[in-house]
Amino acid sequence: MDKDILIKTVARLVAPPRGILAIDESLETCNKRFTKLSVPTTEEKRREYRELLVTAGDMEKYISGYILFDETIRQSTKDGKSFPGVLMAKGIEVGIKVDQGLIDMPLHLGEKVTQGLEGLADRLREYKVLGATFAKWRAVYYTGENIPSGDCMKENAIRLAKYATACQELNMVPFVEPEVLIDGDHTIEKCFEVTAQNLDVLFAELKNANIFIPGMILKTSMVIAGKDSKVQSSVSDVAKMTVKCLTEHVPKDIGGIVFLSGGQGDKEAAENLNEMHKLGALPWPLTFSYGRAIQNPALVSWAENPNDMKKAQELLLIAAKNNSEASIGKYVGK
Ligand code: 13P
Repeated sequence: MDKDILIKTVARLVAPPRGILAIDESLETCNKRFTKLSVPTTEEKRREYRELLVTAGDMEKYISGYILFDETIRQSTKDGKSFPGVLMAKGIEVGIKVDQGLIDMPLHLGEKVTQGLEGLADRLREYKVLGATFAKWRAVYYTGENIPSGDCMKENAIRLAKYATACQELNMVPFVEPEVLIDGDHTIEKCFEVTAQNLDVLFAELKNANIFIPGMILKTSMVIAGKDSKVQSSVSDVAKMTVKCLTEHVPKDIGGIVFLSGGQGDKEAAENLNEMHKLGALPWPLTFSYGRAIQNPALVSWAENPNDMKKAQELLLIAAKNNSEASIGKYVGK
């Protein structure tokens, strides 16, 4: 492990006013979103859509890194330029999702663990040759009666630590992503409790595994009420409780913290991040790593009008700019 390489990559990824764009939806997830909008679920259609995202002009002003999926990192533009090559030419870091999705956790009804450790080092080596400088592994936690269990938190933390070790050994920055899902009717207080406990379990395992904390990025969900909760969270509560939770449960020397949008509305995700930056100086760099909250308007526009790439790219750029402004507390919203 070369700590200097890791620190420099982290610094490029979280330097204000930029954040990360996730376009790493698995085949299943991407196809699900296409089907909803009546887009054919073919490899060519996925390539065409990702070309739009990768080639959109000026994105480098607001986006420091793109997270790709295995299929996408191997794809090229219509005129033959590889997607990683296009991004690197713009000074954008290439990231790659390396987990292989969720499976039911044995003997733990309603809970999931993330798979993908088998052959991970070999896959990372190949992605590195293709241009990747960072990686992502996502674990999810449902909130409900007696869940997430201690076992689920521990097992996912052990796997995240093994993944992070494999990344750092190859000087690739691990995005460690524990997502407390927004699904459910839990309160924001319950979300705080679960997130806090899970972060404690996670960082204990990362420490055990000797992970170099300044050379990693935590990709987390915000502290927010479940989407079916009777009381929905205000922007002010999300900002205050998220920053409190992260301040109390994440090591101060972490390379950076970034958020997933997790089903929040586009505007909501930007406003919440913006509000956190208005609370005063934070102990760590804090920005976005959104998928849906940046892609949504562009995807809908392209699905309705596949020949008008320009319009979709304009919408993508506006969403990226909005979140860039939010990442420095200067969101005005367009
Ligand atoms: P969303 O912002 O759509 O939640 O996607 C981010 C991500 O990478 C989830 O793993």
